[in-house]
Amino acid sequence: QPVGTAPTPPMGWSSWNAFRVDITEQKVLDSARVIVDSGLAAAGYRSINVDDGWWLKRRTADGRLQVRTGLFPSAATGADTSLRPFTDRIHAMGLKAGLYTDIGRNACSQAYDADSPNLPEGTAAEREVGLMGFMRQDVALFFGEWNFDYLKVDGCGLSSYGRDRPHVASGQYREYKPTIVEGNINQSDVDGTRKLYAGLRDALREVRPRGDYVLSVCLWGTVNVRSWGQDHGTMWRTSRDIANSFSQMVHNFDTVATREFYAGPGRWNDPDMLEIGNGEFDGSHLLEARTHLGLWAIAAAPLMIGTDLSKASPALIDMLKAPEVIAINQDPAGHQGVIAYADSDRQILVKTLADGRKAVLLFNRTGVTAKFTLTAEHLKMDAAAPIALRDAWARADAGTFTGSKEFELQPREALLFTATGRHLLPRGYFVSERPGNVY
Ligand code: GLA
Repeated sequence: QPVGTAPTPPMGWSSWNAFRVDITEQKVLDSARVIVDSGLAAAGYRSINVDDGWWLKRRTADGRLQVRTGLFPSAATGADTSLRPFTDRIHAMGLKAGLYTDIGRNACSQAYDADSPNLPEGTAAEREVGLMGFMRQDVALFFGEWNFDYLKVDGCGLSSYGRDRPHVASGQYREYKPTIVEGNINQSDVDGTRKLYAGLRDALREVRPRGDYVLSVCLWGTVNVRSWGQDHGTMWRTSRDIANSFSQMVHNFDTVATREFYAGPGRWNDPDMLEIGNGEFDGSHLLEARTHLGLWAIAAAPLMIGTDLSKASPALIDMLKAPEVIAINQDPAGHQGVIAYADSDRQILVKTLADGRKAVLLFNRTGVTAKFTLTAEHLKMDAAAPIALRDAWARADAGTFTGSKEFELQPREALLFTATGRHLLPRGYFVSERPGNVY
């Protein structure tokens, strides 16, 4: 039974890559406004997600989380702070709302400390913002009272990073003391971590029995999450945080590219949010930005825009909307693309679509031009029958070939086509050892 509801990869916008902890309600609403007005919402980007930085570092005496009202003015609703006015506004725009929390006792950022120095010390529990010890209460708050639709649940509070935070009283971690640090995975923590996320899933199912939510698990590909993420979340991160550099983006892509077995409708590998609009993917790097989106499309990855849309150029917004590229990502069959060819410089990935066409992506990983030969064999199509290509970016037919076709790609370029030809394998053929994926 899938966790939550996402028959196709979730799409939306998140505050993290755009603003980090310099988040404000106004900035979120500004990007949400562009999402609606520019047609990005109509293209599928509908979830507006508030990432880290929204909370005070302290709960009230009865354990209720508090919103930083300096940043979210609409949350100052009386004795208790509330994000309900915010989600009401998002919903009134025809969008969905997402929030961030942590499975442990704390979260990654310390930004909210700045708001808190005048608060009395309180008890140790009051100084903790993560779900641990507050699972049912917080889930009811987020999905009941506050009416969010999407929750990203980080694992920082489980790591030594979260554990050693100065405002956490020592000795608080006796009952569960895992170490989840990328590159230093203690496999014995797998069961403990799974149990925590199972508790969260079950709490969510109680509050939202109809399954109308998305649960995003953020453990950076540690603790073997690829193999159990599908039982505990709608999507699960496969790598450390993305950055606005081409090499980091490619690294994140590589962490999903061999894991197609784990993905399918309702359960998605997550190579992290998009950096399109930022750094090496800004408006002067449209080729790199297209490559980034093309890779996420063929990988059936969630598409979370991570830039300040109020500053994005029309060309970037158009690119994000590219209807035939989005259609490949959102194809209802939900197959993640498989690697049909790879060497250290070049990759060809093929994603079988619901109607029998195949999406194919040619990716030049290098900084120099590269020659490619696409063959009928890569597509598992009959080499004696014509294969028609259509360029997903140009939204134009790109000719027909028989047997094979040569390409020359610019540095860092990825071409994305759909291909129509005579299938070599019967429809619905399962590649052995990859029973989840039709090729
Ligand atoms: C972790 C996550 C990021 C982001 C930050 C917020 O690093 O992986 O995506 O949510 O926490 O602090």
